[in-house]
Amino acid sequence: MKAFFCVLLLGAFLLVLRPTGTSARHIRKTAPERLSITLYYETLCPDCMEFVTEQLYPSMRKHLPFTELTLVPYGNAQKMANGRIICQHGPKECELNAVHACILEHFDIKRALLLIECMMHNWTNLLPQCSSRYNLNVDDVNNCIRTRTVDEILKKYGEETVPHNGVPAIAVDNHYNITEQNLLSDHFDRVFCAKYFAKFNKKLPNC
Ligand SMILES: *[C@@H]1O[C@H](CO)[C@@H](O)[C@H](O)[C@H]1NC(C)=O
Ligand SMILES: *[C@@H]1O[C@H](CO)[C@@H](O)[C@H](O)[C@H]1NC(C)=O
Repeated sequence: MKAFFCVLLLGAFLLVLRPTGTSARHIRKTAPERLSITLYYETLCPDCMEFVTEQLYPSMRKHLPFTELTLVPYGNAQKMANGRIICQHGPKECELNAVHACILEHFDIKRALLLIECMMHNWTNLLPQCSSRYNLNVDDVNNCIRTRTVDEILKKYGEETVPHNGVPAIAVDNHYNITEQNLLSDHFDRVFCAKYFAKFNKKLPNC
């Protein structure tokens, strides 16, 4: 009983000492388990545009807190021996991939996904329209684009890209399974729910 009291007192003490700004709610509630999803894509591929806007985004609106989402805007680009990067749909695509890369560097995944989904509705650079739509300050993104070369910005994403057959390429739990790609790209939400359940034995809300 005494020991219990001590623990209680210590707990009260720690609560007092707790730095301001962290709410008790955050301390008590454990973070939900997250399923890792990685999307390898390129900005001017119609299937990628469709996947992001019609499959990934609607699903992530519900499940992002349960997802470790990584976007890799490189796709089928190739790095030449001299370090230059050639994109499947030409230099315009490399430039737009680099805009996405700069967005991903300067925003958390939630805000980055808002901007990227908005931009994936069009082949042109809709950053000005999309940032004002969501009232996001993109000075850092513009600075990133202005001060660095496309090749330098994209280098990291080239290194992260796994061997794949076509884009969009989707890895679940850090595993790219070629036989599941059509199912994933056409029924992403359903597969996500099933994979989440298989891994964590938990049915997500809205699944
Ligand atoms: C793409 O953006 C341009 C310029 O804002 C616009 O004229 C065009 O209608 C847009 N196309 C689509 C498919 O949204
Ligand atoms: C890939 O997916 C197929 C179809 O769902 C499955 O049968 C197979 O076991 C998976 N392969 C690996 C290595 O996970």
